[in-house]
Amino acid sequence: MSDSPVSDSPAIRLSGAGVRLGEVDALHDVTLALDSRTIAVVGENGSGKSTFARLVAGLVTATAGETRILGLDPVRQAADLRRRVAVVFSNPDAQIVMPTVAEDVAFSLRSERLGREETARRVEDALKRFGLSALRDRSSHELSGGQKQLLALAGAFVRRPELVVADEPTTLLDARNSRLVASHLLEDAGHRLVLVTHDLALAARCETAVLFSGGRVEAVGRPQDVIAEYEAALAC
Ligand SMILES: Nc1ncnc2c1ncn2[C@@H]1O[C@H](COP(=O)(O)OP(=O)(O)OP(=O)(O)O)[C@@H](O)[C@H]1O
Ligand SMILES: [Mg+2]
Repeated sequence: MSDSPVSDSPAIRLSGAGVRLGEVDALHDVTLALDSRTIAVVGENGSGKSTFARLVAGLVTATAGETRILGLDPVRQAADLRRRVAVVFSNPDAQIVMPTVAEDVAFSLRSERLGREETARRVEDALKRFGLSALRDRSSHELSGGQKQLLALAGAFVRRPELVVADEPTTLLDARNSRLVASHLLEDAGHRLVLVTHDLALAARCETAVLFSGGRVEAVGRPQDVIAEYEAALAC
């Protein structure tokens, strides 16, 4: 990231940003400048977290205000942003496209123009990292929910993205795999992370947290403070 030409601007910069989905203002007047490596996004169901994650990943377009992600305009520089960002959602079925586990991971590299050997090496590394080596030739659609989520993560990481946007990535995982995934997401200094989660202990491990409520930013700052504010609101 230090070699980025835009390293002097925060990685996520929104100014009065809004997203209208049908009749709903899913996000409204969001102004944020976030440059921490790991950012937790918390809030109640329907508060706008996934919409924010999709906005950051360039999957929805702001209908108001200004958005810059990694210094890029998500509309004018959409291809650049897609190349530098990887997304992981809570529903892994939507992310699996190829018949076998190894083919599905390799599919994530299709636009990288790597040679056969380099592709194979990167795929094997990613499978090993997420404990999927023994399942490499299995049908990807016949994996368990948790195994599918690990496959989705392998597909995201194999591209070596600059920013990982993960929307409830541990929801389907057992305790052991939750820990494995959390450590890959949080402790690998090679990427930035935006992590949407209802797991407040996991959120507390990020450097910064953002609390959404009714499509607006309710609080932003140190996770302990933001979580305390969230819990105080829940107690009302
Ligand atoms: N495709 C859509 N069309 C219309 N409204 C939508 C659409 N997607 C989401 N919304 C609405 O936008 C608001 C924010 O939804 P969002 O999915 O961002 O919430 P969330 O905080 O991720 O919730 P959860 O914790 O349940 O995943 C909600 O009111 C939701 O009903
Ligand atoms: Mg959501």
